[in-house]
Amino acid sequence: MGLLDIFGLALATALALWALWALRRRRRRTGEPPLVNGWIPFLGKALDFRKDPSKFLLSLQQKYGDIFTVHIAGRYITFIMNPLLYGFVTKNSKYLEFKEFADSLASRTFDYPSVLKEDFPDLNENVHRNYQYLLGKPLDTLSDNMMTNLQWIFKRQFSQTTDWKVGKLYKFCCSVMFEASFITLYGRDPSADGHNVIGAIEENFIKFDANFSYLAANIPIELLGATKRIRKELIHVFLPTSTAKWLGVSELIEARKEVFERYEVLSDYDKAAHHFAFMWASVGNTIPATFWAVYYLLRHPEALAVVRDEIDHLLQSTGQERRPGCNIRLTREQLDSLVYLESAINESLRMCSVSMNIRIAQEDFIFKLEGNQEVSLRKGDWVAIYPPVLHMDPEVYEDPKEYKVDRYVENGKKRTTFQKQGKKLKYFLMPFGSGSSKCPGRFFAVNEMKLFVILLLVYFDVEIREEKQIGVEKNRLGLGIALPDSDISFSYKLRP
Ligand code: HEM
Ligand SMILES: *[C@@H]1O[C@H](CO)[C@@H](O)[C@H](O)[C@H]1NC(C)=O
Ligand SMILES: *[C@@H]1O[C@H](CO)[C@@H](O)[C@H](O)[C@H]1NC(C)=O
Repeated sequence: MGLLDIFGLALATALALWALWALRRRRRRTGEPPLVNGWIPFLGKALDFRKDPSKFLLSLQQKYGDIFTVHIAGRYITFIMNPLLYGFVTKNSKYLEFKEFADSLASRTFDYPSVLKEDFPDLNENVHRNYQYLLGKPLDTLSDNMMTNLQWIFKRQFSQTTDWKVGKLYKFCCSVMFEASFITLYGRDPSADGHNVIGAIEENFIKFDANFSYLAANIPIELLGATKRIRKELIHVFLPTSTAKWLGVSELIEARKEVFERYEVLSDYDKAAHHFAFMWASVGNTIPATFWAVYYLLRHPEALAVVRDEIDHLLQSTGQERRPGCNIRLTREQLDSLVYLESAINESLRMCSVSMNIRIAQEDFIFKLEGNQEVSLRKGDWVAIYPPVLHMDPEVYEDPKEYKVDRYVENGKKRTTFQKQGKKLKYFLMPFGSGSSKCPGRFFAVNEMKLFVILLLVYFDVEIREEKQIGVEKNRLGLGIALPDSDISFSYKLRP
């Protein structure tokens, strides 16, 4: 057979497969949203979406309006583009559910058996009830302990820096936040090398995290190099035999352990895998979010000055010294009163959040929206909100690409009025998801970031001297906070 014949055969096979797919592919039924299939079998519009989701979705919105269905990698995803309609998605939790999606994603990436199985009655509910330890008094205790731990780590690492020192900003944020968050939640190994134990866990965490988005995208772990071994090592950290000797465990984690103890069918490995999942959730987004908060402040000296002033004022008015080495304690009310710092954090979250909110249609149903607008959806279809489009909408946010430290401040108070089409938006900033999928750790996360920035600015003069602009890494799109596409040098020196 000549080369041409082989080529011809291959072409004929491809055409036949394509024709088969074209015959079977979904067609729009009356009442359904406009359907965008794409011509590539299976992948559909996945490549266009991946290249630049916001641009892609906006171009479809121009053509098809606020609601349309896109075929992406074997799924039919109905996007709700208008933020005034977001509430209809979160309100419709009877038909549009989150837990099935979350469970399948988490059990696969973190290697535990699905919590929705009959073997584990009420496990999902019990795990969710445990999140109350991220609110109220337990939250205050967590924040207090976080502050103590952060100060301890800052002092240990940097007590000798009287002259300018150079470091990498992401690496710095990552090591301080990882260790402080970890010991605040899980306690610490009291042995002499306790610090190195955490260091080793952090190293593995960084490696796992680098391939997390591939795992989440359903790529078999066997294809991801050392990821499988690393995940196993990380899970083993949380086996009872390892954690039994740790001291200073938070109420939250103690109670979480008790929840799993009630399920004899969970093996020690399964329980440890659950703890690992929570550990990832507690630092996986907080670390990059902290990086971006600091990065934007350092890139905008006038913003940095405003925030630093606010912090210095608070310390002064509460009679606390702002010398390096001094101990600082702030109550919840005091932390809440830092509106410029909070606005700075919110502004950086607006710029770097890439999370997508997903729900799955539980049955065929007619999704009723504003007025008499309605669309039919099929069982198993996904409904998605993609907040990054909202976060960059020039109608909601003036000059959306610009970092404005006081964007969320109005007359010295929190600004909560943002409008679209002349109407006040209920949802205008959504780094933590919405409705039933809203992040239970959001209050603690914001406190952690505030405490980090406060200590950094109280202890040090900090500068970025490199010119380069940092962009976002594309792999995380859809999942929480974007990672920076590279690290950047910064200098710091103890404040006189
Ligand atoms: C800036 C930091 C953080 C961001 C941006 C963030 C964002 C999110 C988002 C978007 C979700 C929903 C996931 C989805 O819709 O698929 C989520 C879930 C979750 N987050 Fe966070 N998070 C942060 C920090 C934290 C912290 C500090 C904790 C715990 C201490 C935490 C614990 C969780 C947990 C346990 C879930 C799963 C909730 C469930 O079971 O339904 N997060 N987070
Ligand atoms: C991540 O996955 C890639 C393959 O996509 C692999 O080459 C690499 O070794 C993995 N990283 C780690 C730390 O295992
Ligand atoms: C920051 O955003 C959160 C929601 O993510 C909101 O609850 C809080 O009030 C905002 N703070 C300011 C100062 O806008």
